[in-house]
Amino acid sequence: MCGIVGYIGNKKATPILLDGLLSLEYRGYDSAGIATIENDVIKVMKDKGRVKNLENLDGIHDLIGTVGIAHTRWATHGKPCRENSHPHMDNSNTFAVVHNGIIENYIELKEFLISKGYTFLSQTDTEVIPNLIHYYYTNGPVSVLKDSLEKFLGSVKSAVNDLKGSYAIEVISPICPNEVIVVRKDSPLVIGKGGGENYIASDIPAILKYTKEFYLLDDNEFAVISKDIVKFYDSSLTEHSKPIKNIEWDSNAADKCGYEDYMLKEIFEQPTAIRETIGSRFRLGEKCSFDDIDISKEYLKSINNIYIVACGTAMHAGLVGKTLIENLCKIPTTVDIASEFRYRDPIIDEHTLCIYISQSGETADTIAALKLAKSKGAKTLAISNVIGSSITREADYTIYTHAGPEIAVASTKAYTSQVALIAILAMYFAEILGSSDEKTILDLKTDMIDLPTKIEKILDNVEPIKEFAQKIYTEKDMFFLGRNMDYNVALEGSLKLKEISYIHSEAYAAGELKHGPIALIENGVTVIGIITNPNLVEKSISNLQEVITRGAKTLVITNQILTNSHFDYVINIPETNPLLSPILSIIPMQLLSYYISKFKGLDVDKPRNLAKSVTVE
Ligand code: F6R
Repeated sequence: MCGIVGYIGNKKATPILLDGLLSLEYRGYDSAGIATIENDVIKVMKDKGRVKNLENLDGIHDLIGTVGIAHTRWATHGKPCRENSHPHMDNSNTFAVVHNGIIENYIELKEFLISKGYTFLSQTDTEVIPNLIHYYYTNGPVSVLKDSLEKFLGSVKSAVNDLKGSYAIEVISPICPNEVIVVRKDSPLVIGKGGGENYIASDIPAILKYTKEFYLLDDNEFAVISKDIVKFYDSSLTEHSKPIKNIEWDSNAADKCGYEDYMLKEIFEQPTAIRETIGSRFRLGEKCSFDDIDISKEYLKSINNIYIVACGTAMHAGLVGKTLIENLCKIPTTVDIASEFRYRDPIIDEHTLCIYISQSGETADTIAALKLAKSKGAKTLAISNVIGSSITREADYTIYTHAGPEIAVASTKAYTSQVALIAILAMYFAEILGSSDEKTILDLKTDMIDLPTKIEKILDNVEPIKEFAQKIYTEKDMFFLGRNMDYNVALEGSLKLKEISYIHSEAYAAGELKHGPIALIENGVTVIGIITNPNLVEKSISNLQEVITRGAKTLVITNQILTNSHFDYVINIPETNPLLSPILSIIPMQLLSYYISKFKGLDVDKPRNLAKSVTVE
């Protein structure tokens, strides 16, 4: 939610800032803006709409400042318009600020500032920040300091002390034209180290083409960034050093590489993502191992139950994970939505293991749910795709999917990698506990190794899916049906369709249909059935037969031979171990949503009202 970029060096900042914003647009695309310093004056250019709009503003390419901050917005407070776009300035135009997050007490702060004579131009929560900085710079305890940088940093700190909520903030001022000050709490911010120049961004991919060396700012940590040096300070402004992290991602990973959309590219990257996620975590004939964690048998034996907590697609991966863990490890496992879990006083203690899944590692509800479990004495394990993301820094254990950057708002390769990783985790636990026989695990490993090739096979034959998409893209409602894991994956297929095609859809456990939803089935309605569990074929066919009788048009995704069935379309996928089938059966549904969205002429990568990485509640 909201993207932040910053640059300080010898080059013109504007092209670098615009380029960074373009690659961060998936975080928000309601409005965009930049501020640079030129001849001791802050120049701000901003407008509502996409970054392309900003790029076309008169005079933007004439900005020559070599220090700048920039922002692409996902509106929370105040509609998308020029006034509400970032950067925001204080009344004296001395401080320019961009902000990602939400200031919960901004009304109170605004009233305080108004009582001191400040005026406001926007409806945003952010505008209080530059004015508070100005207030402390001129009136607060730091106003007596002589050194301008110390005074600048001190006033940012005083302002931040007043804020309640979440924030990643960049501040520039002509008072110190050779520095950018940043601070974060519960919102991501990274600093990329260059030679004689430094970069700032809310996400690594935005600046990956310039550097592979990153500082990952911690909560309540400040950094003063000049072109040659980055200095770090804790919340009481005591300076400290910070290790640099080398990020291995290929910079091409953040490009479309000839694909029309990131989503399509990421769908096609799934074989590689699964191969990388398996990596060296197991080989046939050897036990599973994780470089990143070492969990003892004593600890696993002391676990009474497991919670898997996440949001959206990651939660759907968790549903598949539940079956994998219960099946292989025999530990009762509950899946919960993070925003619910955190407010319902779950029964957890030191005998509970809580697993948190988050592609971005920055989802506000998931992080809060993790902190809650820690406070109750449970051990926490994070599954994330982003190295050093907030969730990984909070959790007791972290394991990474190696899907590479996921840019499209609709998650695809992250989902299949998350499911693959939980499968490996479940096998790892089962081998430690001895809770499954060796043959079961060996068979599963054999099937996992074959998954990438099987995904390739599905991707080699997208035409039938495209054809079906063309037939149904004008529809208003659709249904997805499945049983057990096929139901879990139906939920994910339905979510994909909703978010990028804006077609209303519902997923139901096929056996549940008769208990109400079947009333919605009428002539011509499309029902998508998933049938991959050999033990449930007959029952699933019967349920689909019931909707056919009521006039539904059916598409079935299956790895079984279906005799005596009357489906309109059948997409055959390769067979695999039923526990792994979601990794294959989701692919046709991802493609179907993608092509429907394309036929409707929609922006697949940036669906309306959404943003990647939900850093607000
Ligand atoms: C849907 C989608 C979202 C995310 C959810 C959690 O395609 O991408 O539902 O899965 O917002 O995000 P992460 O995994 O970053 O915590």
